[in-house]
Amino acid sequence: MSLLLAEIHTVATKPFLDQRPGTSGLRKKTKIFQQPHYLANFVQSIFASLEGFEGKTLVVGGDGRFFNREAIQIVIRMAAANGFDEILVGRGGILSTPAASAVIRAEKAFGGIVLSASHNPGGPDADFGIKYNISNGGPAPEKITEAIFAHSTTIESYKIIEAPDVDLDTLGETRVGGAKVRIIDPVAIYQALMESLFDFPAIARMFKHGFRLKFDAMSAVTGPYAKAIFEEALGAAKGSVMNGEPLPDFGHHHPDPNLVHARHLYDLAMSDASPDLCAASDGDGDRNLIIGRGQFVTPSDSLAIIAANAHLAPGYKNGIAGIARSMPTSLAADRVAEKLKIGMYETPTGWKFFGNLLDAGKVTICGEESAGAGSNHVREKDGLWAILMWLNILAARQQSVREIVRAHWAEFGRNYYSRHDYEEVASEGAEALFADLRAKLPTLAGQTFGALKVEAADDFSYVDPVDGSVSKNQGLRILFAGGSRIVYRLSGTGTAGATLRVYIERYEPDPAKHDLETQDALADLIACAEKIAEIRRHTGRDHPSVIT
Ligand code: G1P
Ligand code: ZN
Repeated sequence: MSLLLAEIHTVATKPFLDQRPGTSGLRKKTKIFQQPHYLANFVQSIFASLEGFEGKTLVVGGDGRFFNREAIQIVIRMAAANGFDEILVGRGGILSTPAASAVIRAEKAFGGIVLSASHNPGGPDADFGIKYNISNGGPAPEKITEAIFAHSTTIESYKIIEAPDVDLDTLGETRVGGAKVRIIDPVAIYQALMESLFDFPAIARMFKHGFRLKFDAMSAVTGPYAKAIFEEALGAAKGSVMNGEPLPDFGHHHPDPNLVHARHLYDLAMSDASPDLCAASDGDGDRNLIIGRGQFVTPSDSLAIIAANAHLAPGYKNGIAGIARSMPTSLAADRVAEKLKIGMYETPTGWKFFGNLLDAGKVTICGEESAGAGSNHVREKDGLWAILMWLNILAARQQSVREIVRAHWAEFGRNYYSRHDYEEVASEGAEALFADLRAKLPTLAGQTFGALKVEAADDFSYVDPVDGSVSKNQGLRILFAGGSRIVYRLSGTGTAGATLRVYIERYEPDPAKHDLETQDALADLIACAEKIAEIRRHTGRDHPSVIT
């Protein structure tokens, strides 16, 4: 015993004042994380914000980016020093974000630490990140992230065990101080969960009959999962998974499955050589991209279509309890909820707000416009889950993606939708834009801009229906008569300057008008978004850096 205790070091440190977690954990440039004590301070602040974990299990894994392995060794030695009994680590330090959530739940762990900066690029000059997930498998709620931040501003020391590095590449058990460290297969628990939810035999039959899939793992975490599930279990042709090896710098790419960074998939899907489904996931495996032959599916539409068809998958055959979407996500899912006569919840941006609704059984399916969809099977969004859900729907309906999307619009109407991002603008300009716009909000209702009439304008705040917690200042909304909207918010995941996001949406019930180009269909709202917020004047930009 004395031997074990002797190995624990208490290291004196000083606070870093920039450790407030954002939309999804703490994200910074890798070099910031590599500073002496920086990561350790944050990890100690996590443990200091938790109670009762002594003798319990912690799950640890990451998306494989540069500094992942070094960070995992630090987390293991600190978790052991702080009194965790067991530490489960994905082999090679790999666990996709949804797989980490699945493992926390399956192993009844106390919580988990996920090392990832999601879709942000990786490498010594790019981004790194860390977040804490609680025992339901979901991101820590604000109460905990704020406690972590508070502790990080006063921290004086952290505890760490002096021990050799753990071999992360060999399955099995070893000890670090008083803790057992178990290296687990990162895919097994996750794959078994997927097999319990979806009709694998029907999807396999579809592949056998010639269905073609192109999945881009973007040299990020989903490669091993996708190869095991799509190619090995479901029989998709070898090579269906591209960029399937996780690389520390994602092959110099930006592992964000959108129309900018996965443009090649879009071009493929619009060409004569298109497979039946093109799909992709991001750095840590929680986002998804769905493009059928000749048909891109917006994440907001995907959420609505998944909700309307989920009963076709065995895991959801009894129907869904309700749907939740983040506020900026289009209202397409609301129309499905209305038809199914189930609850619809509008939450602030970030998956952490769905956890309570899922735990309380109020909702089954959740989604965000930022390529996130998921269900009550874990407490994170889940890229491969969304793709498997689409495969299951395609197998059950025996229709193409395009046919399914068109039929959905014909039934529910189409929500034309686009997000305009102004990345890395000066923070002062962004703040002035919000201050001016906030001051204008009360005067907007009743004003007209061309054919657009403002019905209401507000600063979105959310009262959690389960625990009553209130989250204010979650985005400025301008709602027009007829269901069109403009939403403005600042990104909480950026690592440089400020990123302004403008979300633009128009509802079109008439199927004869479902064939417009999205930017054309939204042109008057886009002009109005500039007019109301004076984006050009405040940011010095006359066009967005990314349009999705
Ligand atoms: C972005 C997305 C948000 C998502 C988050 C984490 O956050 O907008 O929907 O939950 O990434 O993947 P933001 O940068 O807008 O704060
Ligand atoms: Zn992600």
